Parts: sequence; structure tokens; C-alpha cells
Amino acid sequence: MNFTILRFDQIDSTNTEALNQAKRGADEGLCVVARRQTAGRGRHGRVWVSEKDAGLFFSVVLRPTIETRFLPLVTLMSAVVVHDTLEELYAIDCDIKWVNDIHIRGKKVCGILAETCETPKGLAVVVGIGINLKSSNFPPEIAETATSIEAETNQTPNAEILLQKLTFFLSEFRDVLSGANGAEKIRAEWTRRSSYAFGKRVRVVIENETIHGITRGIEENGALRVELDCGEIRTIHAGDVENLRTV
Ligand code: BTN
Repeated sequence: MNFTILRFDQIDSTNTEALNQAKRGADEGLCVVARRQTAGRGRHGRVWVSEKDAGLFFSVVLRPTIETRFLPLVTLMSAVVVHDTLEELYAIDCDIKWVNDIHIRGKKVCGILAETCETPKGLAVVVGIGINLKSSNFPPEIAETATSIEAETNQTPNAEILLQKLTFFLSEFRDVLSGANGAEKIRAEWTRRSSYAFGKRVRVVIENETIHGITRGIEENGALRVELDCGEIRTIHAGDVENLRTV
């Protein structure tokens, strides 16, 4: 995959820009990077605080050639990409919290927001990734639960090198997902890297319901199987979950 990088000092949201570019026909590989976002978006309509140079904020346009039912796996694939990048560049031992948060020692270092849109060239998926580079500007409400590469390594990371490695792995795993048995391979790669895949006791808040149980692997589309205390297996879809915690 060839990447074209569009850089902004400041933008509302790199995801919004990448979605607009995709709707105007941008090719796969268009990558929007900003030093600061004024309206960075997280999952479930949350704000992604994006102070200048405190994080790497970028979004990539993908045009996956996979069956629609496997589209949620683009998110899992992106989590694998970030996991391997942090491990290779900084020797950081990371975990993937289902479905796509990257954690270091139980604290979140990266969030991923994948959004789809119809375009003249077919469906596009925009993968937006926010990686905390520094912890200095964390708002109080996330200070306890978030971490950064700087805090974990005592080094100030080079955002350019980080972006280069991320795009390298993104291209690799995109080919895996689109290739033979791609969905199965990505599920296996994700499962290998996530302590959440099997045997984790979790509490999940879904709309007005809270369930407790133990994780029992992921479905073919990446949904999480949870065995409730009564023995019933529930399938949890990422879009329905307001909150998932270990207990
Ligand atoms: C989450 O809630 O964990 C997902 C956060 C995703 C944040 C990134 S930062 C780059 C891109 N642009 C956005 O507005 N959001 C994503």
C-alpha cells in the first residue's frame, strides 16, 4: 500500500478530514496527521483530548476488499499494528483490551476509532489512531487510567519514526486481512496478543444492562464471547458496549 501523508498543524479531527477526503475519492493509503486536534473524537461520542504534540493523531483511508461481515476486523487488525509497533520500537510489553485499546501495565496508551463511509469508489474505512506520546497534559479524569510512551520508556518518542513503523505494519497486516483466510489469520494474531481473549473475568455495560462473566474467545467478526455465571454464552459487539472492565 502506498501512503500519501497530509500534515496539519491543527485540525478539528483527522478522522473527519480523512472521511471527507475518502468521500471525494481519495485512494487507499491517504493518511491525515495533525499535531493538534480541536475536536478529536473517541468512541461512543467521547472527546479525545489532543493537545499540541502530546500525542500522535492520525487517520488512514482504507478500501478493504473483504466481505462486509468481516469489516469489524479492520479494528482488530489496527490494534495488532499498534501493538507490534510499540513492541518493536520501544520493547514495550503491550496488551490489547478488547476490542482495540492498547494498554501498558493496565493503562491506556492508544485508542482507535474506525469509521466507514460510502464513496464513489465504494465503501471506505477510516482508521483513526491516537497514541499518547507524553503524559504531561492529561486531563484529571484520565490521569489515573492513561499512560504514554514517554512515561513508559523515559524517552521522548520521535513521532515521525513512530508513524513510519505504524504505516509499515498497517500495510503488512492489511495484506494479511485481504489475503487467503485473512479474517481467520487476523483473529489469530489478535488473540495471541490480547489477555482479554480467554479466561478474563469482566464486567460489561451494554445500554441498560450490566453483565459479569469470563471471556471465551472472539467470534468470526471479532465480537467477544462471554460466559455468564449461569453458564450462558453471550456475544458482545463492540458498538453495543459502553464499558468493559476486568473485575
Ligand atoms: C477511543 O475512544 O479510544 C478512540 C480514540 C481515537 C482517537 C483518534 S486521534 C486520531 C483520530 N482522529 C479522531 O478524531 N479520533 C481518532
